[in-house]
Amino acid sequence: MKIIDGKETAQQIKNEIADEVAAMLNSREQGPHLVAVLVGEDPASQTYVRNKEKACAQVGIISSVYKYPESISEKELLEVVDFINNDDEIDGLIVQLPLPKHISEKKIIEKINPAKDVDGFHPLNVGRMALNLPTYLPATPYGILQLIERYNIETEGKSCVVLGRSHIVGSPISILLSRKAYPGNCTVTVCHSRTKNLKQIAKSADILIVAMGQPQFVTEDMVKKDAVVIDVGIHRVPSDKTKSGFRLVGDVLFDEVSKKAGYITPVPGGVGPMTIVSLLMNTLKAAKKEIYF
Ligand code: GUN
Repeated sequence: MKIIDGKETAQQIKNEIADEVAAMLNSREQGPHLVAVLVGEDPASQTYVRNKEKACAQVGIISSVYKYPESISEKELLEVVDFINNDDEIDGLIVQLPLPKHISEKKIIEKINPAKDVDGFHPLNVGRMALNLPTYLPATPYGILQLIERYNIETEGKSCVVLGRSHIVGSPISILLSRKAYPGNCTVTVCHSRTKNLKQIAKSADILIVAMGQPQFVTEDMVKKDAVVIDVGIHRVPSDKTKSGFRLVGDVLFDEVSKKAGYITPVPGGVGPMTIVSLLMNTLKAAKKEIYF
């Protein structure tokens, strides 16, 4: 069994991005510039945005956070997005989700200039992804592809089972791994809350991607010997072994499944560290005008 070390891979990629940003400064006055729009006081969103700022600083990407109170109207937020869309000094834009209930996330996302949509959430970019055209891939699926690629994991002709069909992980990773590409060329099955025989289907997977949001759901009996297991879950559960009284676990029962898997991502330190790096990669692409030019 091999551990897929997301922390180490993320650091390698950060070093590569830092080198590219430094090289870019030979021909441009300013490094890539990412703006995060943060509405309200949601503690998790505040932490995510802070971590994104920290990661940007580590690689030389300029980051700004535009903060607005929970009371901002939808119309005002649409105007903010439009303003950023038209600011030539800003390469990438993310609107941290979730938004307050009185604001339509769909409308806000559709307002983002697709050329600056480094989250890859705009329907145009989702369509480009499905058509295998150059685009910004959403953070978690992009991070998973990077791990597969950097560990030289074979995907062609493999049976891949995805547990979960969310718009940000399950659905896009299922599309990406079925594309005629590397990583890709898999035969993909998507399982969800209405799937019958989920356990048997999971066991048929050469590559099992777990993104269903249930702590330690996948047990040893659901995994084929030597399968590649990618765990997207992250949950805080009570523990009497840590000072904090909590520990982090994924959607996979790691201690059991790791004995049977060929490759496995741990939690923490697997997929998690890769997601922010994906955002950095997309911001660099935006600054280089690699996708929309
Ligand atoms: N909220 C949780 N994950 C994400 C993400 O990847 N992007 C944005 N914009 N909001 C999020």
